Amino acid sequence: MKSGLLTTYRDNLPITEDTPLFTLGEGDTPLVRSRRIVSEVGCAELYFKLEGCNPTGSFKDRGMVVAVAKAVEAGSTDILCASTGNTSASAAAYGAYCGLITTILVPKGGVTRGKLAQAMAYGARIMIVDGSFDETLDFARQICERRPAVLVNSLNPYRIQGQKTAAFEIVHELGGAPHYLCIPVGNAGNITAYWLGFREAEELRWADAKPKILGFQAEGAAPIVRGELVEHPESIASALRVGNPARWKSAVVARDESGGVIESVSDDEILSAYRMMAQAEGIFCEPASAACVAGLLRLSRESLDLRDRRVVCVITGHGLKDPDTAAILEPSSVHEHPAELAALEAALGAP
Ligand code: F0G
Repeated sequence: MKSGLLTTYRDNLPITEDTPLFTLGEGDTPLVRSRRIVSEVGCAELYFKLEGCNPTGSFKDRGMVVAVAKAVEAGSTDILCASTGNTSASAAAYGAYCGLITTILVPKGGVTRGKLAQAMAYGARIMIVDGSFDETLDFARQICERRPAVLVNSLNPYRIQGQKTAAFEIVHELGGAPHYLCIPVGNAGNITAYWLGFREAEELRWADAKPKILGFQAEGAAPIVRGELVEHPESIASALRVGNPARWKSAVVARDESGGVIESVSDDEILSAYRMMAQAEGIFCEPASAACVAGLLRLSRESLDLRDRRVVCVITGHGLKDPDTAAILEPSSVHEHPAELAALEAALGAP
């Protein structure tokens, strides 16, 4: 049985005697070695941290288990979040497990089918808001100030605490920090959490160095890269449609303290990396997750010499979250045939 994050990292999380220790099996996700993209990038070792293997299919479960445990500890019965989909799926699952009332605010047209299906199945109250993610987050904050609901967006510090554990797992598995960590950036909670995790891992002497953090936003939703708010963020990666990241400042700190960069990638680059991940590595991820692979491919081509370097890409969510993008990408690989062996063999051609 998996012990879960709360138990495994009890000493490194804000856990008291009154914190309920439960798990849906989050954390301890695979670090898979690249087979093909590694040679394209030209680094010594490339790994993918498969956060889509968490119970609801994204990295959000790491932060959510801590945020929900602390909400229960405080006697709360209601949790609430705004989301581009993954946070809401995770909140709905942990809320259901703990018998809480879970309310999620999502931007109209901005959440993939898989993520919405999860929130519905887990029985959350779903409020579709005719606005952007940034607007829904603003509403969520205000509602939580007026009502006794706990906000479980990454503004909640317990979310960051939980998510830092992915950095711990990476240093434990590799026996130290990688040279570079590539990560997609939306609301900027995860980049903040990884940087905290790598800093703590060094303090604990689990690693004797920290990685340079390479963060990637989608081109149509790149406020940190542009240095200004984006009013109408757009991208094929709907998870990354954030125009005013809540953790903007700490993302910049992670970038600057680590000596890394935050850059943007186009939808074409994202889709090309998304296809490569599935077809050259056997890893079906979300477009948002592919953004960091796209960014690594670009930097390795343009400026970054990665010989002798060890690189980790954070694959934040599972591809099944967004089945429609897969269908757009590969429609020509699907054909219908009559139920006849001869017809099937004819279509296959000579053996
Ligand atoms: N990858 C995926 C699959 C995501 O769902 C998100 C964020 C990110 C990357 C970016 O992480 O926000 O910590 O910088 N999704 C949020 C949500 C916004 O509501 O589910 P971040």
